[in-house]
Amino acid sequence: MSIEAGREKRPAAVPDTGIAATTGPQLPDPGEASLRATDLTLSFGQRSILTGVNVEIRRGAVTALIGPTGSGKTTLLRTFNRMNDKVAGYRHSGDVLLDGQSIWHPGVELMALRRKVGMLFQRPNPFPMSIMDNVVAGVKAHRMAGRSELKSIARDRLSEVGLWDAVSERLKDSPFRLSGGQQQLLCLARALAVGPEVLLLDEPTSSLDPIATESIESLIRALVPAITVVIVTHNLAQARRVADRTIFLNDGRLVEHGETSQMFEDPAEEETARYVSGRFG
Ligand SMILES: Nc1ncnc2c1ncn2[C@@H]1O[C@H](COP(=O)(O)OP(=O)(O)OP(=O)(O)O)[C@@H](O)[C@H]1O
Ligand SMILES: [Mg+2]
Repeated sequence: MSIEAGREKRPAAVPDTGIAATTGPQLPDPGEASLRATDLTLSFGQRSILTGVNVEIRRGAVTALIGPTGSGKTTLLRTFNRMNDKVAGYRHSGDVLLDGQSIWHPGVELMALRRKVGMLFQRPNPFPMSIMDNVVAGVKAHRMAGRSELKSIARDRLSEVGLWDAVSERLKDSPFRLSGGQQQLLCLARALAVGPEVLLLDEPTSSLDPIATESIESLIRALVPAITVVIVTHNLAQARRVADRTIFLNDGRLVEHGETSQMFEDPAEEETARYVSGRFG
């Protein structure tokens, strides 16, 4: 079995989906949904958080997840790579399929799922190790490359996120002296280094200034169609700038899902219209 060491290592003829061409039985159909939730209902203890969510996340597109505080956006996002599984009192019914297969199928290894479905959090979370080691942490954990390749993987990924010039002389330094925006870019480089198929972003720019926000947004656009992106944002202007598709959640229900321009300019539901025009609550 060949081991992929990053997206640039795949054969040119293979679409850049994040799936090693030699490990899967076949490549997914590009028209098919990347992630699909079917009748997903989720609760923590007695509290029902998501109710009957049916949604298809379009492969190779940016999908924004919008909705009021507490509507379940983070919970839905975290479900996509099974980060709620260990939360006390967590229960779910319904299913989530990745490339047509349940993410809870007994044959799915959690490590492998999280390599395919990466995540970036609201606050940057570099690991307590050098900048260089941060970038290649996942590559090492998944044994995706030999020692001699790590430096070039780190350079490529840091260049991809526009951080190479700022950190090339301090790869052995702690990441905690980087600015907040730089730390978030480092976390993005780390997430990209394992060649994810899907990237989940939970308000990735909410603690960043407009310049850092703009660089993250343009990076997000550069990731598609190679990677499928789902981004939670409270910033409706950001959803309009970066997202091809938008999902509106309210009180744990999926109210509407469609093309971003339609959702903002001609929403089908009155509830969506009130939210996107700021007349909510
Ligand atoms: N671990 C948990 N245990 C119990 N309840 C939780 C847990 N995590 C989230 N919740 C509840 O689930 C509901 C949805 O939370 P979630 O974080 O998904 O909302 P959100 O839409 O991301 O909100 P925000 O925009 O404020 O980030 C909230 O009522 C929250 O209190
Ligand atoms: Mg949230």
